[in-house]
Amino acid sequence: MSIETQISGISVKVYSTSSDASEAVANEITQEITTRDHCVLGLATGGTPVDCYQRLVERHRNSGLSFADVTTFNLDEYIGLAADHPQSYRAFMQAQLFDHVDVRRERTWIPSGVAEDVSLECTTYESRIREAGGIDLQLLGLGHNGHIAFNEPGSPLESRTRQVELTPETIQKNARFFADDESVPRHAITMGIATILEARRIVMLVTGSSKAAAVSAMVEGPVGVECPASLLRNHPQVQLIVDEAAAAKLDVS
Ligand code: GLP
Repeated sequence: MSIETQISGISVKVYSTSSDASEAVANEITQEITTRDHCVLGLATGGTPVDCYQRLVERHRNSGLSFADVTTFNLDEYIGLAADHPQSYRAFMQAQLFDHVDVRRERTWIPSGVAEDVSLECTTYESRIREAGGIDLQLLGLGHNGHIAFNEPGSPLESRTRQVELTPETIQKNARFFADDESVPRHAITMGIATILEARRIVMLVTGSSKAAAVSAMVEGPVGVECPASLLRNHPQVQLIVDEAAAAKLDVS
């Protein structure tokens, strides 16, 4: 069961469970892939999209959903981690999705965390997105402090793919994927807010009660760089898909 409403120009869909919310996002992605030639997907990492990626893998195996014609661009990568580092976002994407579907490796783009010239890597990433025709559907998660990709509070609206420093809060939250806090890289390459806002359509998936305050700040708080996710309210086609726990602090709930 779901509730659908508009808040601050964002289409918000609330599902009873995180599984239902993940299924809804898998449906959006499936629809985009199956209806658009040469579909370009923007993809996200983190714990939240794992269930959704599993559903896409199952659809590939059981219903023939094909990624052969799909190009992907991931939001971000840790600086200092090579593609084969187990905690790199490249390794995450291979393990969660790419290794299990028929996407072509050369069409899956993730910034390199070990580029010698980081600023060249960033400008080249922007050019690749443009050359691919832009992103049709960008999947996003939400950080506890309102960050999107690795655009931490204070990131400018006009920011592009660049090197950023992670906040202590983000380092601590992401430490669960590493041996300890010390092993979490301090810097990352991330698509900028302006890069993300250029996607034709944005689908954000947020689950769990620990994100309820961030969801409320994003859609009901002030629009501004202090809550990067609130800047999505400047985009005409954003869908926020949440479970009841993440929606708990919204007026709609
Ligand atoms: C990281 C990623 C973000 C992601 C966020 C939330 O910081 N760079 O793109 O949205 O974590 O992650 P999780 O889904 O694990 O809560």
